[in-house]
Amino acid sequence: MKKKAFITGINGQDGSYLAELLIEKNYVVHGTIRKSSTFNTERIDSIISSKHYNKDFFLYYTDLIDAHGIYNLINKIKPDEIYNLAAQSHVHTSFDLPEYTTQINSLGTLKILDAVKNLKLKTKIYQASTSELYGNTKVKLQNEKTPFEPRSPYAISKLYSYWIAKNYRESHNIFLSNGILFNHESPRRNETFVTKKITSGAVKIKLGIQNKISLGNIYAKRDWGYAPEYVFGMWKILQHNEPDDFVIATGKSYSVKEFVEKTFKYLDINIVWKGKGYNEKAYNKKNNKVIVDIDRKYFRNTEVNFLKGSNLKIKKKLNWYPKTSLDKIIKIMVDSDLIKYSN
Ligand code: NAP
Ligand code: GDD
Repeated sequence: MKKKAFITGINGQDGSYLAELLIEKNYVVHGTIRKSSTFNTERIDSIISSKHYNKDFFLYYTDLIDAHGIYNLINKIKPDEIYNLAAQSHVHTSFDLPEYTTQINSLGTLKILDAVKNLKLKTKIYQASTSELYGNTKVKLQNEKTPFEPRSPYAISKLYSYWIAKNYRESHNIFLSNGILFNHESPRRNETFVTKKITSGAVKIKLGIQNKISLGNIYAKRDWGYAPEYVFGMWKILQHNEPDDFVIATGKSYSVKEFVEKTFKYLDINIVWKGKGYNEKAYNKKNNKVIVDIDRKYFRNTEVNFLKGSNLKIKKKLNWYPKTSLDKIIKIMVDSDLIKYSN
């Protein structure tokens, strides 16, 4: 019998890579998308147009706000594994939509856990936790034991889910694991996140269809990994012999400014920085034009300044390790943007 997986948020960056991985691993994959007035399946269109659609890949409309919908789907599918990836995942937006973010990211998780509990299923559940939980930490290499200091409504909503997952694991004996994932990027990243905003912006500058990129805090540091490798880590977490929580990270940290420099370097555009604070700008050395400036509107009310994760536990217990360097990730993203915007 083929294993059945249920993925919430299957049309998101991670959902789409995970669906491809699980189909390859001979699963029957069931996934949720939201009803939208515009097309929203771009990342999974290649699966929809393949032989897998409605054979071993099924899509359902639902929303994590809808407890009955979630319960009925889980009852119908009775999945072996659930990957709860659906979320309002944008940190900056969570300051404007704190209640909605909590409804989806906290209570949405609870709805899934309650469905599995009430249906008395033996389903294993992966909960998408995040390095944002570490927030304001002063610990220089964050691991599974580092105390959380969340700094945004997004992080706080995810903190609830982290703890309710642990609680249902202990109190209801459900196989539930948190993956505490550090930032992971790919050509499928939405352009509202800083990496994709930079790679696509730089490519458009190179092609002469955009003048500059406006950014917020370029001194924030992140541990950026490669999304397809991280969804493989999610799968490994659920194949472990017991439920547990794991950090997935590269163990390297770079600033947004360094990301900008690497991206322009790859595109053969020499830049020079001038000015300070809100007046800091990057100029194209060739023509002295401003190609990066700072805009206050991209700053956050409270910022997470430094993230760097330890992957020691997942390396040791699950033999998972990152393979793709940040330079390589930038190359993959820029190359993909060059194809997209050259046409
Ligand atoms: P993403 O690209 O933003 O995808 C999020 C998915 O959730 C989309 O399919 C989205 O659908 C869906 N969704 C949003 N609101 C929903 C709702 N009310 N009901 C049902 N579905 C809803 O995020 P991602 O980068 O793939 O991340 C996957 C998960 O990992 C998220 O939970 C995120 O918070 C977490 N995470 C991500 C990272 C990272 O660096 N990528 C790191 C740590 C944790 P629409 O397309 O309709 O919006
Ligand atoms: N989005 C964005 N846009 N961020 C900017 C900008 C900008 O113009 N300028 C600077 N930044 C800084 C942000 O302030 C932040 O410090 C950093 O770039 C990364 O921002 P994002 O790419 O939006 O990602 P994030 O780290 O806030 O959140 C992502 O990673 C989390 C894991 O740590 C999301 O994928 C979350 O869902 C995920 O949990």
